[in-house]
Amino acid sequence: MTRKSFYITTPIYYPSAKLHIGHAYCTTIADAVARFKRLTDHDVFFLTGSDEHGQKIQQKAQEGGVTPIAYVDKIVAGFQGLWQKLRISNDDFLRTTEKRHERVVQEIFRRIYEKGDIYKGKYKGLYCTPCESYWTERQLADGKCPDCGRAVAEVEEDAYFFKMSRYADRVLAYIEEHPDFIQPVSRRNEMINFIKQGLEDLCISRTSFDWGIPVPMAPDHVIYVWFDALTNYLTPIGFLDDPEKFEKYWPADIHLVGKEIVRFHSIIWPCILMALDLPLPKMVYGHGWLIVDGDKMSKSKGNVVDPVQLIDEFGADAIRYFLLREINLGQDGNFSRDALIGRINADLANDLGNLLHRTLNMIGKFQGGVVEKALGESEIDRAFLAEAENTIVAYEREMEEMKLQSAIKTAWAFISRANKYIDETMPWALAKDAAKKQTLTNTLYNLAESLRRISVLIEPFMPETAEKIWRQLGIEAEFAAVRFADVRTWGGFAAGTQVKTPEQLFPRIDVEAEEKPAEDRKKSPMEKPQTSQRKQKEQAAKKAEASDGIVTFDEFSRVDLRAAEILTAERVPDTEKLMRLTVSLGAEEREIVSGIAEFYAADELVGKKVVLVANLKPAKIRGIRSHGMILCTSSEDGLRLVEPAAPAGSKVK
Ligand code: ME8
Ligand code: MG
Repeated sequence: MTRKSFYITTPIYYPSAKLHIGHAYCTTIADAVARFKRLTDHDVFFLTGSDEHGQKIQQKAQEGGVTPIAYVDKIVAGFQGLWQKLRISNDDFLRTTEKRHERVVQEIFRRIYEKGDIYKGKYKGLYCTPCESYWTERQLADGKCPDCGRAVAEVEEDAYFFKMSRYADRVLAYIEEHPDFIQPVSRRNEMINFIKQGLEDLCISRTSFDWGIPVPMAPDHVIYVWFDALTNYLTPIGFLDDPEKFEKYWPADIHLVGKEIVRFHSIIWPCILMALDLPLPKMVYGHGWLIVDGDKMSKSKGNVVDPVQLIDEFGADAIRYFLLREINLGQDGNFSRDALIGRINADLANDLGNLLHRTLNMIGKFQGGVVEKALGESEIDRAFLAEAENTIVAYEREMEEMKLQSAIKTAWAFISRANKYIDETMPWALAKDAAKKQTLTNTLYNLAESLRRISVLIEPFMPETAEKIWRQLGIEAEFAAVRFADVRTWGGFAAGTQVKTPEQLFPRIDVEAEEKPAEDRKKSPMEKPQTSQRKQKEQAAKKAEASDGIVTFDEFSRVDLRAAEILTAERVPDTEKLMRLTVSLGAEEREIVSGIAEFYAADELVGKKVVLVANLKPAKIRGIRSHGMILCTSSEDGLRLVEPAAPAGSKVK
């Protein structure tokens, strides 16, 4: 039987600067999916690369006083080094400056031109160079680029145009008929609205600079960088030179991209493919952004976290785990050093590290390091094995549905369950009672088998740790050859296996040392700007006071909590999360910006009673003065309002 093929891509990132943890996040997601597909026996092609042409790169190179190619060569080497460090298992790395790609782009241009869908004209309009994006006056937000909020420039030049307008209706129909094409659903609606506002023909060449692929019939024009970049997905899978390979992998199963470029992938790219009579990708998945202090992490904002430094400090698997565990794929997520360390200590050093350590220690101590055959099972065993079965089923379903965060939680719930199983069975007590020998054997077998499974379940997320566990378990079979099918049924651990002495997987990070003055340790990427000695002392004193997490009654009483009623609600334009509210406090009205737009529709909110932190320092959010904060519960279901029954203005105490 031929294996099912699976083709997944990441965006090809701009080498305008070093990559940050946001890029690493996207590539890690794609890697986890690719690894899971390999485990489930798919013939996987996983592509990433670099988007090296365009005005922005040319400008950067000029600023640096080097040629564009020298500029990108250096930065792209850094991309490749990062992916190696992060154990990214891509099957190819495409640079748009490679000859193989130039041929593809020019051939595509020629085919669409010959078909009559590319024509020559004059472009007069607006351009956002950081986004390499054309805009019309109407599309701007407050006169700025609606995607990044930066200034746009007027350009006027001879140009070639792609008749995108011809394909608008077909793309719209495709999106409407294929509910899974654009994920998550919120982005799908955005795209439908975008197309419904009308698609204009796309300008696809520039003459005001020359860092790009020449238009075949007019070499004084270079091809628009997005036209060049999108077609990268066709190049390495044999579009021009290997029909068999192309047949196998196209259409792509998933183009994984950040939410800001879903539009290029779900509108422009399908139009190009339709003009080429090629099938459309099965899914465009727009993931959320990594946020630092409420702002998108981005090169130009200077708030970036360097993944290379983080990997050097904590190891690739810890970073991978954090990114996949902490952030829900479709939503924005916060990156913080404290949260990272918290996860390392609690989930990795504690839950996983201890399970392995305790298990191997006990097998060593009670059975000379040999895992023996299990015979029979107790009530406790049965409950535990049932949980192991449920874990496999839930995990597989969640991975299939791209719910990576849920899958990783499922794996960790099982790790906790296995730790609990040790506490329930108390092998150390069984070891003291000769009559309980078989029960002890069974318990230790079940633990070894659990760890074998865990190692496979976590492989997509933490490949290095997974293999370390496998090796410490002493399993003879090669880890690289293991498949998900090997853990679908219980009992695959070969009796008679000699385990190894345990080695620590994750050292616990000393939080105390972390809080010492910055000079005492290596400068780390999430470091806040240097604080003065005096300030540090004050902070330390405050921390000591608050170290038990307790606030005094006086401190608490300073917070003025009030019942309030929502009078009006309206989404803040161009944001996903923000809702602008006016609320009544009985005698007073307030305006507030609240991050609940993903969880409530505007008309649902009007009339609701809420709890307001009334004396919170006002803040400007998106130009709106927000005075107060609304309390919500935060759980798996997202944010839910805390709704008091008292009249507006009542004090909450
Ligand atoms: O757009 N959080 O390249 P790019 C999460 N060359 N992900 C982030 C992020 C953040 N703060 N910042 C960036 C381009 N990303 C084009 C792509 S594809 C044919 C051409 C990730 O260097 C995210 O996946 O600006 C985003 O879409 C991508 O990097 C943009 O990288
Ligand atoms: Mg960008």
